[in-house]
Amino acid sequence: MTDTIAPPLALLAELTHRCPLQCPYCSNPVRLAGASGELTTAEWQDVLAQAAGMDALQVHFSGGEPASRRDLVDLVRHAVGVGLYTNLITSGVPLDQTRVDALAEAGLDHVQISVQDVDDANGDRVAGMAGAQRKKREVAAIVQRAGLPLTINLAVHRQNLDRLPAMLDMAAGLGAARIEVAHVQYYGWALVNRDSLLPSRAQLDRATEQVEAARVRLAGAVVIDYVVPDYHARFPKACMGGWGRRFLTVTPTGLVLPCHAAESLPGLDFPSVRDGSLAEAWLASDAFNRFRGTGWMPAPCSGCDHRERDWGGCRCQAFALTGNPAATDPACSRSADHTLLDVAIQDAQTEPPAFIYRRIGGMPA
Ligand code: SF4
Ligand code: FES
Repeated sequence: MTDTIAPPLALLAELTHRCPLQCPYCSNPVRLAGASGELTTAEWQDVLAQAAGMDALQVHFSGGEPASRRDLVDLVRHAVGVGLYTNLITSGVPLDQTRVDALAEAGLDHVQISVQDVDDANGDRVAGMAGAQRKKREVAAIVQRAGLPLTINLAVHRQNLDRLPAMLDMAAGLGAARIEVAHVQYYGWALVNRDSLLPSRAQLDRATEQVEAARVRLAGAVVIDYVVPDYHARFPKACMGGWGRRFLTVTPTGLVLPCHAAESLPGLDFPSVRDGSLAEAWLASDAFNRFRGTGWMPAPCSGCDHRERDWGGCRCQAFALTGNPAATDPACSRSADHTLLDVAIQDAQTEPPAFIYRRIGGMPA
């Protein structure tokens, strides 16, 4: 590593875009990759070894649904063998007792299961799969019996937010030591479905109070992380902890990205692990260096006292809203484009349109 670019903290290994669910806020690209182009087991093992060799500490196995890969247990075992902390981010749906026991035996450190609602009918509707909610509860119990630490991810939006207290109690009852309440972020499929998902300010304020109340109610048993939606914040989040600062993502077909949604950005030529090393991509590629640090920033970011806190917000959101990936994130109240969010918030207050579900190989209808 050079003196100026620190090693990545974590690798996000998007093993596949295949998934039994079709969540309308999926963070995968609008165009999904099919199975035929995915990295092989040996290629993924090499990526994991390279990440460990760069002093990364963690790998998050993600997707799509990472358990759609038949070699998941082998990949976990390999990651453990090269010294990475291993986290599985899963819908839970393809897992069963045998597979969870095999993952535990391979050394998996942690499991995150997403849950869509406390109401089964609405949860299944959001996930686009009948029976998904029931299966998730079963798998959460299996994970707990296997002795694996469990986080429940609650993706919240205007069509489930009014049931948040019951969702939090359900997640605690499933044995989660940590609950992540994450408001949907609007890029990829979520941007396509924004008018169906964006909550009102009143809904958001109520939810924030409910999270605080749950933190008191569940103190000592569960830690609750809370990610608020940028659209209702004064300042943007430090997306990915800053571009090219903490995380790198490898896509199912081997592209190396500074964030999971970066393929949506124009004018960036992303390196591939099939053509070069992970370290070259991290240190030397234009894609990673383009928005790294503060030198690229336009005004008002360039002179702002927050610039090394939020690193100018989110490049994908800036592009999605302004068409310019180098613009100040419009989620920032100091951005000249901030009023774009007011328009979106107004548009989202009408009767929500039907969801557009993600499908392999398809653009939204
Ligand atoms: Fe962050 Fe830029 Fe807004 Fe300052 S102007 S708070 S650096 S997004
Ligand atoms: Fe890509 Fe924020 S999601 S930089």
